Amino acid sequence: MLGGVPSSTKSANKEPFLADVAVVGAGPIGLAVAWRCAARGLRVTVHDSAPGSGASAVAAGMLSPVAEAYFGERQLTELLVASAARWPAFAAELTEAAGAEIGYRTEGTLLVGLTGDDLAEASRLLAYQQGLGLPVTPLRPTELRDREPALAPRVRGGAFSPTDHQVDPRRLVPALHTAARRAGAVFVPQAVRRLSEVDAGITVVAAGCGAAALTGLPVRPVKGQILRLRAPGGVAPGFRHVIRGYADGESVYLVPRADGEVVLGATVEERADTTVTAGAVLRLLRAGVDLLPELAEYDLVETIAGLRPGTPDNAPILGPLPGRPDVLVATGHHRHGIVLAPVTADLIADLVISGVPDPLLAPFRPDRFTGVPDGGGPDRTTEGDRWS
Ligand code: GLY
Repeated sequence: MLGGVPSSTKSANKEPFLADVAVVGAGPIGLAVAWRCAARGLRVTVHDSAPGSGASAVAAGMLSPVAEAYFGERQLTELLVASAARWPAFAAELTEAAGAEIGYRTEGTLLVGLTGDDLAEASRLLAYQQGLGLPVTPLRPTELRDREPALAPRVRGGAFSPTDHQVDPRRLVPALHTAARRAGAVFVPQAVRRLSEVDAGITVVAAGCGAAALTGLPVRPVKGQILRLRAPGGVAPGFRHVIRGYADGESVYLVPRADGEVVLGATVEERADTTVTAGAVLRLLRAGVDLLPELAEYDLVETIAGLRPGTPDNAPILGPLPGRPDVLVATGHHRHGIVLAPVTADLIADLVISGVPDPLLAPFRPDRFTGVPDGGGPDRTTEGDRWS
């Protein structure tokens, strides 16, 4: 059953070692859950044969609640906004706990359209985002170039989103691993193929695409191809903002890092292979160079593909597995695994400890895909539980 019992009481009564919480999956979601649970005094194990080898190894690390506020995804946008608001404190706390920089940057994001058609498409989305009250300001071409002189002269217009930040996932994941370990989480370097292999009071399934086989929930791989370039001469890239936009109909983003790296992404393909194709590289490079001509002079240092854990409604699956109140699911983060790590970790840790789901989780419960009630029980009758 879900918690509501102080962890110290639980732990004191358990010999030999039995985890209060077993986390299956050591990507950013699983590691952040493990860190938050361990830091709150729970005994935590983390099970993964290859920590950090899933979608996060490929991800760009945009923290984009505004730029990724899409039509028909209002509840997801609310969760993205809530998680992005936690990022400044989360980043500071993690940097301190791990003793490592994670590349968190707050210059904001420019949204741009190259041609008139591209700008029309960007503007329609911008109007929707403004209608939701999100902080995004339209900019004329001259204003865009004042902010980012390296933008191509033919960029027709765009907008500025000051609260869409970035972090480096290749620094974030090792930092979360260190923070979780320092907080007391024990790592078990083995893959979990069935939930019966794990022995703990609560099991948290944060296995990305692997959650489908473990839980039967509809999580599917969504392929993304992405490139990494490097500014020549070991200097920082010639732009500071994350740049997202449309270039001749191609949707593209560019993420600059202080060490000279630029991440250029990404395709979204309903496929489960991780092959890099010439066509995708060509389209991404053409779109990137059209927006920022100086990229043509950069070194192309990596081409890679990964698999996002997608769901039928593009939103994550968070909460008790139907019929298994001892199993919490935290997966299906699709294009938002990095930005959603703080809110997922905090709310899943709260749920483990109190047994009471935060109202923010309500739209994302697993039984929206099964129609099966999630087990009920005493913890479900607590005042404030909006899930019943
Ligand atoms: N969040 C960016 C992507 O999935 O490509």
